[in-house]
Amino acid sequence: MAIKSRITVHKITPPKGSDIDFGAELRGADLDNITELDFDIIRRALYENQVLIFKNQQNLSPKAQYELTRLFDPAVTSYGHGATLDAKKSILHPDLKTIPHQPQVQVIGNGPIADYEGLENITLKHPHHKTFHKHPIDPASDRDHTRFYRWHIDAALYGLHPPLVTTLLAVQVPQTSPQTLHYDDGTGDELQVSRGSTAFVSSYRTYDLLSAEDQLFARTTKVQYAPHPYIWMSRAKSRSDGLGLISEGLETPHAELPRIEEGKIQVLPMCWRNPVTGRLALQVHPSAPEKLILADGTVVEDLEAVRGMVHRVQRPGIAPHLVLALEWEEGDLAVFNNHGVLHTVTGSFEQGEVRVFRQCNLAGSEGPLGP
Ligand SMILES: [Fe+2]
Repeated sequence: MAIKSRITVHKITPPKGSDIDFGAELRGADLDNITELDFDIIRRALYENQVLIFKNQQNLSPKAQYELTRLFDPAVTSYGHGATLDAKKSILHPDLKTIPHQPQVQVIGNGPIADYEGLENITLKHPHHKTFHKHPIDPASDRDHTRFYRWHIDAALYGLHPPLVTTLLAVQVPQTSPQTLHYDDGTGDELQVSRGSTAFVSSYRTYDLLSAEDQLFARTTKVQYAPHPYIWMSRAKSRSDGLGLISEGLETPHAELPRIEEGKIQVLPMCWRNPVTGRLALQVHPSAPEKLILADGTVVEDLEAVRGMVHRVQRPGIAPHLVLALEWEEGDLAVFNNHGVLHTVTGSFEQGEVRVFRQCNLAGSEGPLGP
């Protein structure tokens, strides 16, 4: 008799007014004992649904989370950001704490933590858009109103391939009031979100929304990312929709960056192919591109033009009805296709609102599949 898996796949029902076509809850999984057949189901579900939720995973150990993350790319050797996180000037540095006994897993969140997985007396800080956006929300209305903090892919984008997946476990979630998220880009777009929601959009949908002409542009354009991108962009400020930077000459000059190894600079296709469905994702880290290389070999070096071209093709994909805004419950484990979605944190917390998450991603053993 054939051995069966107990895992079942349940598509997320979009809330009223939403038109999302991705996201699924997987039930019946024993993530401490994943069989080959289980993993076949999980992997297929991931690439068909982009974001998977496993409920009630509060007992999943950091090691088991690492092992699950590694199953998607068994040849990996490095944490997704490698040593780049250590740079004190990097904008990623303040947001993450590494678990001492499982260094590929980081703790993120908000508030004081006395003792968690070998980390003692640490204080976590939920990233607030006021530290990154050019025109933040008026502090007087900050409690009830928020933004997309920074749409991104989890990737070092220098010297390392982008991680295939990220796993994100909600360990502790404060019970608190929801917020209204504003795009503040002149469209009037807004979204109701639970406080601290993580927002996702499908980059496959973003590609599908484009005109045939723009799809051709996306398929034939390459993106050159800045060297040491998170240091390079550390003084620059974001658009209010969190989808890329404003150009006012604040990027760190190359001469002031750590030594640049030309071979580590990433030039990636603008479209990345889904290994299971074959769909194309318009997959660009909105904040990190420095140049575009067009089909005819023309290199677009004007930063404002580069950002304008990328924003124009990405903005339709983050429309409110296309955003999956997760309402976290303790024990939720999200696994997402980091080659097929953009994601961002949202919200703001007070110091006493303690929130603890664990995340893991591992630099890809190979670069993304091109078109
Ligand atoms: Fe992330």
